[in-house]
Amino acid sequence: MKAAFFTIAAFVTTAFAAPASVSDAVKTVDDIVSTDLGVKQITDSLTPGSKRSIANSGDVVEALGGLFSGVQTNTGALNSTVVSFQNGKISKKEAQTTAAREVENMNFKLSEIVTDLTGAAGLVVAKGDVDMVLNLVVALLAEVLATVKALVTILGITPQLTIALKAVFGIVANLLVLLIGLLAGLLPGLVAALSPLLAALGNGLLAPLLTPIVALLAALAGPGLA
Ligand SMILES: *[C@@H]1O[C@H](CO)[C@@H](O)[C@H](O)[C@H]1NC(C)=O
Repeated sequence: MKAAFFTIAAFVTTAFAAPASVSDAVKTVDDIVSTDLGVKQITDSLTPGSKRSIANSGDVVEALGGLFSGVQTNTGALNSTVVSFQNGKISKKEAQTTAAREVENMNFKLSEIVTDLTGAAGLVVAKGDVDMVLNLVVALLAEVLATVKALVTILGITPQLTIALKAVFGIVANLLVLLIGLLAGLLPGLVAALSPLLAALGNGLLAPLLTPIVALLAALAGPGLA
């Protein structure tokens, strides 16, 4: 898996003139996420969790913005759980159980948007929305990966957490497939942005959990872009 991964990274570097090193690439991603396209402005203006029907690319942007704020509630709770354990307020076992439940809540939100997007097809795509979607997806995955990495580093991994986290990354892979199908032009930017992100955050304990996303990117980077 690791080998496949670095092949993607190398591919991306040549195909898209990505930044020279992984840390540069991630920094670039950070800069884009926090400044260029106003992810925060989009998400600030949305009510998380409200049901949406998807009729155009703007609806996809809104749905993802809502998802991103919703997921931040879960990652915030996960971070608090880790802090409570570190402060000795709860045992490691309690923290692991609470965390697994919170990850399941996050799965629920991810599944909802997958359901919403599954019904959509042949969307009219407005200029600029593809970049918005790209930045929201990268922000979402960066948030989840950073949170989960800290979580499993500090709390370790239990069977219940493994199952819940594998589900998260499986659903995220489905979400990526749906988005690529709905938005022509999303694919190259997505592969270029996610490969360095996964290279930076998806190693060690997370590697076996990320199989669905890494395999998807490997498949997409091959025939889809050749
Ligand atoms: C949770 O912690 C991770 C890792 O430190 C951080 O990247 C993420 O932004 C935090 N999320 C929230 C909502 O506090």
